[in-house]
Amino acid sequence: MCGIIGYIGFQRAQPILLEGLKRLEYRGYDSAGVATIEDGRLVIVKSAGRISNLEACLEQRPLLQSTIGIAHTRWATHGCPNDINAHPHSDASGRIALVHNGIIENYATLRQYLEGKGITFRSETDTEVLAQLIGHLYAPGQLESAVRQALIQVQGTYGIAVLCLDEPDKIVVARRGSPLIIGVGADEYIVASDASAIVQHTSQVIYLSDGEIACLDRQGLRTTTLDARQVSKAVQSLELTLEQIELGGYQHYMQKEIFEQPTALRNCMRGRLDMHESRVVLGGITKLDRELARARRIILMGCGTAWHAALIGEYLLEDFARIPAEVEYASEFRYRNPVIEFGTALVAISQSGETADTLAALREGKERGATVLGVVNAVGSTIARETDAGVYLHVGPEIGVASTKAFTGQVAVLAMVAIWLGRKRHLSPTAAEILIRELARIPERIEQVLTSAEHIREVTEKYCDRENWLYLGRGYNYPVALEGALKLKEISYIHAEGMPAAEMKHGPIALISKGTPAVFIATRGAQYGKVISNIEEVRSRGGCIIAVATEGDAAVAKLADHVFYVPDTPDPLQPLVTVVPLQLMAYYAALARGCNVDKPRNLAKSVTVE
Ligand code: G6P
Repeated sequence: MCGIIGYIGFQRAQPILLEGLKRLEYRGYDSAGVATIEDGRLVIVKSAGRISNLEACLEQRPLLQSTIGIAHTRWATHGCPNDINAHPHSDASGRIALVHNGIIENYATLRQYLEGKGITFRSETDTEVLAQLIGHLYAPGQLESAVRQALIQVQGTYGIAVLCLDEPDKIVVARRGSPLIIGVGADEYIVASDASAIVQHTSQVIYLSDGEIACLDRQGLRTTTLDARQVSKAVQSLELTLEQIELGGYQHYMQKEIFEQPTALRNCMRGRLDMHESRVVLGGITKLDRELARARRIILMGCGTAWHAALIGEYLLEDFARIPAEVEYASEFRYRNPVIEFGTALVAISQSGETADTLAALREGKERGATVLGVVNAVGSTIARETDAGVYLHVGPEIGVASTKAFTGQVAVLAMVAIWLGRKRHLSPTAAEILIRELARIPERIEQVLTSAEHIREVTEKYCDRENWLYLGRGYNYPVALEGALKLKEISYIHAEGMPAAEMKHGPIALISKGTPAVFIATRGAQYGKVISNIEEVRSRGGCIIAVATEGDAAVAKLADHVFYVPDTPDPLQPLVTVVPLQLMAYYAALARGCNVDKPRNLAKSVTVE
């Protein structure tokens, strides 16, 4: 959801900024732009579309030699994706340039005020208001102070980097609600929305907190709060490596991330499954173990794929730990006056740890007295830092916009949390032992599913011209049906609906006509017989059945047009295996339709606006 980057040091800024923008492109790709100070002039180059368009514009100009600069890749909110609305934005004098990630909520009022002062606006963006306001408040040599005064007047969220022609050896950055990390090199700083744009330059970083402003020059950095109090910030080491964010031999990040799920889950579970003692070890939440063992209610929250994982978490927690659990869309929770009684624990699930809706919901829950836990992938992210305790996924960075390995990581972590909590409440050591043993086998089971990739591709290609698909499952496989449908929609733009298989007869069955693809997750388990009946119902109305079934199940093969077999797995852990063929189907459908797999239209990986 917009990526920003800034550089100040002794190297040429342009290649560093462009390289960083490419790493951040998954955050938005509606337009891109760069600002530097070159021979006493503020130079801004920007272009609608992908970063490659910006590169083409830069190639037509004399080489930018400057060793300072800021840049941006945009996911449009206010104003359509064109050259004018692209960042960086500047003030009326053309001496200040700014890049911004977030939303200035009171931009209309501020704009009216500034227009009243005779300032003419060029773009439709909320961001230009902030650039103009800083320019309006600017007094010579006082950039930091102008930024501070402007931010005090701003409502909303921001991660910003600001350049000023009159103070050419300085970048001022600030954040509230949007992420910002400062990479600390030798006599240089790289500030970016996330670590992927920093890691190739340095592993030493400072995480800026909400309400902080940092002033960077080549001699050092100074961090203050909005009310001008000095803060000292610790330099931390990044866990990320460059190799983790490269494509390796794969064509797309999504493909890489689907295929690396066995390894990712091994990393996720490493050191956490104690086979001998039949228990799960989760260092990040042990400090709350008495409180959680006595919790009366657990609310799980997330958005998109994380919400689907949360739904599985609800089933797991009620099943293993017998704690009343419920799932909330983070975006709804905050605004509907939720009841948080004594003994409520709230679990925020997020790959990025920066999703604005999830963050806002967890703050609301905290405010109302809930204990808040995080199930997060990005180490050091805002949600990870603002929760009382949590469990990291440790599945490595996820770059493809459509979430895959983070989903299986989230489900694995929630299964471990449910077993951990279950052992403190109702789960017998024998039952825990079986579950732990089965969890440990999941990576090899996924490996087995991945060997069918070619078959899955062939089947998918036969149907990828159909514009309406249904995904149906029951019990633990109902959230998998939702996730399968979301994957297909996100990257191949095919309309797909996921639902509990039993609900189909209450309406959606009317959508079935000859040849409608219906994907059933029909693995052996508690509701197998009922799912088979649902398959019959669709088949008799001419639907094409694509089934995900347990290996060796000949009965399903007789009913379905195509079967993808998965290894036998206990019901509660099936989502970890049954989702994999659906991820592959979405991937191959998008490829066959010529869609941009890693950067689907209109989407962004990390949604840092509400
Ligand atoms: C966006 C992404 C989804 C993701 C959701 C939640 O919509 O496109 O793939 O599931 O945000 O993201 P989070 O980082 O909080 O898991």
